[in-house]
Amino acid sequence: MKKVRIHHFAEMKRRGEKITMLTAYDYPTARAFDAAGVDILLVGDSLGDNMLGYDSTVPLTVDEMIPFARAVAKGAEHSFVIADLPFGAYEVSPQQAVESSIRMMKLSGANAIKFEGGRRIAAQVKAVTDAGIPFCGHLGFTPQSENALGGRRIQGRGDGAYDDMLADALALQEAGAFAIVLEMVISPVAEKLSAALDVPTIGIGAGPHTDGQVLVWLDALGVGEWHPSFSKQYGHIGDAMRDGAAAYVSEVKGGQFPTLDHTFDE
Ligand code: KIV
Repeated sequence: MKKVRIHHFAEMKRRGEKITMLTAYDYPTARAFDAAGVDILLVGDSLGDNMLGYDSTVPLTVDEMIPFARAVAKGAEHSFVIADLPFGAYEVSPQQAVESSIRMMKLSGANAIKFEGGRRIAAQVKAVTDAGIPFCGHLGFTPQSENALGGRRIQGRGDGAYDDMLADALALQEAGAFAIVLEMVISPVAEKLSAALDVPTIGIGAGPHTDGQVLVWLDALGVGEWHPSFSKQYGHIGDAMRDGAAAYVSEVKGGQFPTLDHTFDE
């Protein structure tokens, strides 16, 4: 397997080869997904709710994300690594976006930055890409704006929704984005956007017609209790963890572990 690089994504779109992305937040998970051939590892700000127990992505900071992003970058030999900028790290100005992106890139070793929004953050995207930092966009349901959007709502419904999203997507493309995540966008709109854009789209809850797919790995591999309907479970790791830990507790309490096989001679 060769290292996935930024120019590969446009080539994959041209060839009709789907781009695969999974979130990852630590070194062993990055090693496993890298070995599995996942094209992109996303250190998403879903780290906040999935790994740190926050109620949403909103409280997360750049400083909290950096050690996780660094661990993923260290574990990714072949996969391309994208790190999110969390809420509050880029909205104020293009300068703030560049400073946060440079800090994340320098201290984590990620290959690219992602943050949320369309036309309203196009100046930030332009400044980031002008600074030589690869940028991935994120449209549709944008969890950092959950409060403004009125909760987890499906996007792309209603008159004018497609035109609105297309204007946002084109603004990101023109500002230099190399790909755009479409989250919880109705399938016909995601399909039309994917056909209209030069850059690849990467869907999550956006149907089968995007140029790639991303899932939160804990949803995809069955960790935790909440499994969104648009995801699919490719494993049951939560059950395996509970069963393994319960067997350990039972054997230690019952005296079956450790035995003399699990110790050292004089
Ligand atoms: O933070 C994240 O995990 C994301 C994905 C849902 C695309 O942005």
